[in-house]
Amino acid sequence: MRVLGIESSCDETAAAIIENGRVIEANIIASQIKTHAPFGGVVPELASREHLSNIAFVVNSALAEAHTNLDAIDGIAVTRGPGLIGSLLVGLSYAKSLAYVANKPLVGVNHIEGHVYSVVFENPPIAYPALALVVSGGHTTLFYIPEEGRYAALGRTRDDAAGEAYDKVAKLLGLGYPGGPVIDRLANSGDAKAAELVFTLPRMDSPNLDFSFSGLKTAVLRYVKEHHIKPVESPDAVTQEILDLIASFQDKVIRSLLSRVQEAARRHHPKTMILAGGVACNSALRAKMLAVDFGCPVYYPSPILTTDNAAMIAAAGFPKLARGEDHGLNFNATASLRLDNFVMEGYDAPVTARYRI
Ligand code: KG4
Ligand code: ZN
Repeated sequence: MRVLGIESSCDETAAAIIENGRVIEANIIASQIKTHAPFGGVVPELASREHLSNIAFVVNSALAEAHTNLDAIDGIAVTRGPGLIGSLLVGLSYAKSLAYVANKPLVGVNHIEGHVYSVVFENPPIAYPALALVVSGGHTTLFYIPEEGRYAALGRTRDDAAGEAYDKVAKLLGLGYPGGPVIDRLANSGDAKAAELVFTLPRMDSPNLDFSFSGLKTAVLRYVKEHHIKPVESPDAVTQEILDLIASFQDKVIRSLLSRVQEAARRHHPKTMILAGGVACNSALRAKMLAVDFGCPVYYPSPILTTDNAAMIAAAGFPKLARGEDHGLNFNATASLRLDNFVMEGYDAPVTARYRI
């Protein structure tokens, strides 16, 4: 079965062709980083406009690269949320029109489920139960997945997403946007112990394995003020003091992520541990995850599949299309779409879902 995937939830316009849910025949991504970089973050209005200019080209390029055409596609999978509503609507409307003219089944996919499926191309099939840590610019959630399609959120961020914290700290220090890759590269040259960050975590008075990054971000801000640190002109002009600070920041982020994941593995004995989302690209996080014995293999995608892409959307749509699902042309995009569809026994039902976007 050959699936066309379309993704436009944030600042990447992407299309992919996937064979049998596991083989990538084309994976085209038009990134808007250059457009948004001067603003230090994604500007929704600009994002929608760029999706509109890019979508036809990106989809046609994917079909051409896979040496196929719309007639030879068995189904279309498109991101229906969460994300920026104006951005989502571009991909969704385009996918609907393709499904209509070519008379193909169309399924809407949750973007976060897409991130979970980003590991299927380069690893053995996912064994269940699985745990998945999805860490990106918009989301930080730890899922328990007892079987395909069932998701319980064991923990989620109470404030900023991990990637959002990277981006904000980078902006504060003049390191540019997005912050994750540059902090990842520079943190190796810093000494985390040389910059002590003082912060208290909010009271975690529930069994849930929640995260919180805003206190850490504020601690970085306080450190910058107390040490009179000025933003740098370029990432190549950083001082040792800044290198130590970002090493310390990254160390705290990774410790916080790992402690929850380790506790979840201890409680639930997964057969697969999945690390996905843009922050899963982080070399220190990957190395630390691999160094821990979770009692099961750790699956993570290669860098091109960690950031937003349509291959993962097609992969998540594949089981639905293979089951004969067709969501038709009347479903809508949902900016704050949730993935968790049941509450694990012993955990509190989440009260809020906060996404950056
Ligand atoms: O998954 P993604 O492309 O988009 C969202 O769905 O949000 O994730 C983008 C986020 C950004 O916040 C970026 O700074 C972060 O992933 N990121 C990283 C790294 N590469 C990207 N964070 C830490 N280390 C990295 N190497
Ligand atoms: Zn994403």
